[in-house]
Amino acid sequence: MFKVALIGYGYWGVNLLRNLINSASVSKVNVCDIRNERLQLAKKSYPSIHTSSDIYSILKNTDIDVVVIATPTSTHYELTKRALSHNKHVLVEKPICTRSTEARELYSLAQTKGKILFTDLTFLYNGAVEYIHDYIHDEKIGEIKYIDSTRVNLGIYQEDTNVVWDLAPHDISIIQKILKQKPIQLRAISNPLKSLKDIDFVYIFLYYTNGLVVQINCSWASPTKIRQMIIGGERKMIIYDEVEPTQKIKIYNYSSEQKDRDTTLIDYRLGDIVIPKFSTKEPLQKMLEVFFSCIKENKYLCISPEQSIEIISIIENIEKSLFLKGELVNL
Ligand SMILES: NC(=O)c1ccc[n+]([C@@H]2O[C@H](COP(=O)([O-])OP(=O)(O)OC[C@H]3O[C@@H](n4cnc5c(N)ncnc54)[C@H](O)[C@@H]3O)[C@@H](O)[C@H]2O)c1
Repeated sequence: MFKVALIGYGYWGVNLLRNLINSASVSKVNVCDIRNERLQLAKKSYPSIHTSSDIYSILKNTDIDVVVIATPTSTHYELTKRALSHNKHVLVEKPICTRSTEARELYSLAQTKGKILFTDLTFLYNGAVEYIHDYIHDEKIGEIKYIDSTRVNLGIYQEDTNVVWDLAPHDISIIQKILKQKPIQLRAISNPLKSLKDIDFVYIFLYYTNGLVVQINCSWASPTKIRQMIIGGERKMIIYDEVEPTQKIKIYNYSSEQKDRDTTLIDYRLGDIVIPKFSTKEPLQKMLEVFFSCIKENKYLCISPEQSIEIISIIENIEKSLFLKGELVNL
């Protein structure tokens, strides 16, 4: 069983702590935050935990084997580096950092120290995403022609990051998982008058060798919350709607035929619609189980360091295209 320190008890830290407390792999939890009111809240919810505002005492404590980092994005690189240097296994919230050179350096440090460095890309452990992954890999939908992903809401503006680093890691990690191929080019478009740090909506286009195009729209400036992915295959189409309470996945059997040779009319016909059942286990709980298994088995499961670095590299290039006002960027 692991002794864990959670650094950062803000919005997401609350969910992490609840799952750490309930984990069969965890024997003790320390919570560290620079805000005393957050520590008081954590202690009030879970009186058995230890709290501290001094990160150095946490890192120096040889009794702690695992550090979970849920602080703002701009602090991830430094905190992760420090935790690894103090011989801790590290789980850091997405995005692991905002430079691929830094991500490589962190994974290399983890390897030197013989520690696991894992990043919480929560949707990889979502039952709906796992179902879609398996369904696609059973070749039931045929070749994928396009993916259209929308992740928009009225977001909390974060001073240290933009909407791309905040939301796009989710879409990119899901798409990386289900496609198993890398994009070769990308283009990203937003308000050309805004600086990169102020970007609050973005349209991203990823291009692949076989003609597949993926569109991702992320926004903090939408009056409604949409979490929808449409996957268009040769034989079937899938709609995955994370906000929908009970029918998150709909699989459409699909065909089209030319009605009349003399006209260009096409009869688009949707066949049966299937609403499948899948695991509804909390993704964060599954993610923690995978992370602890990585430590126990001393190997990376579910997502490799290379895949994790690739996500950072894609987002770096999205920012490059935004900086170039939507120019096509080769990957
Ligand atoms: N996986 C997901 O679905 C998901 C969802 C939301 C947020 N996140 C990620 O979680 C991270 C935190 O986001 P949030 O919304 O919880 O932010 P937040 O601002 O609500 O919480 C961050 C907490 O970290 C504390 N903190 C800041 N610097 C610190 C330091 N040096 N040492 C100790 N504590 C420190 C702050 O006081 C605050 O309580 C971000 O990286 C975000 O991308 C992930």
